[in-house]
Amino acid sequence: MDSVNLPYFDRILSAVQEAPDSEAVQVFGTRHVHWGYFSSPDLADPSTPEMIAAAEAMSQRMSAIAGVADGQRVLDVGCGFGGTIASISERFNNVELVGLNIDGRQLARARELVRPRPGNKIEFVEGDACRLPFPDASFDVVLAVECIFHFSSRRKFFQEVRRVLKPGGKLAVSDFVSLTRMLPFTIPLHLANLVNKKHFYGALNPLMFTPWAYRLLAQRSGFHQLLDEDVTQNTVPTYRFMARMADNEMGKSMTRVQEAIAKWGIIRYRLMSFVTA
Ligand SMILES: C[S@@+](CC[C@H](N)C(=O)[O-])C[C@H]1O[C@@H](n2cnc3c(N)ncnc32)[C@H](O)[C@@H]1O
Repeated sequence: MDSVNLPYFDRILSAVQEAPDSEAVQVFGTRHVHWGYFSSPDLADPSTPEMIAAAEAMSQRMSAIAGVADGQRVLDVGCGFGGTIASISERFNNVELVGLNIDGRQLARARELVRPRPGNKIEFVEGDACRLPFPDASFDVVLAVECIFHFSSRRKFFQEVRRVLKPGGKLAVSDFVSLTRMLPFTIPLHLANLVNKKHFYGALNPLMFTPWAYRLLAQRSGFHQLLDEDVTQNTVPTYRFMARMADNEMGKSMTRVQEAIAKWGIIRYRLMSFVTA
């Protein structure tokens, strides 16, 4: 299921070519490709600058929960266009940053967009999150910002991260998670995604993880879980922004359904961090 070309990235990359000044490219084609973190989630309809700021706030929260600090070597897996790498380089000194992505087209754009600040180093590498092309114990921190659901196996990813982290190293993951009591609602949603081959978000790992499954996975892969924070409500304005941006009625309706699923807590947006045991 290692999909290289995700349909939503095909759309974003076409927009980069055909409409480089569009709202879609400003928000999702230039830095971050993830949901926003809104500290005031009652915001009815975020503007483009508010959406951009919220996406940056999400990246900053992820690097904060992973304990990113000056002098570290940091791996950002599924790095998109390198937005989180750019954000860390702008805020920290003497860092060595590596962005890994399975899609070479995204890496080409990341290399165009992202330059290190003096004293920092940045490298973008093509590869699969479940077969990390790095030696053992070579990173202080690994980040996986809103991408683990695309990987062929969360278990293999955790094992690989455990291998490449130095002792005491940290991993931060954001994921759409189902509470155990919500599984009767979320399993049919995943089956629908599996059947729909033209799904806009592409191949999604059908195994919906629960917070409990993450705790077990961490334990079995040699990690202690440090944090598990539910920020679902802080992400909800993202759906309103996306509904406004959708160019057809079907897209708008689907986004409103996703907003309701988030608001009712059927699928939760969680930020998690782990340290090697
Ligand atoms: C929602 S995007 C998030 C991008 C980036 N982390 C961000 O927050 O802007 C998901 C990313 O995961 C990447 N991806 C999907 N499967 C992957 C895999 N098996 N190995 C590495 N990257 C993968 C996609 O190419 C895409 O860049």
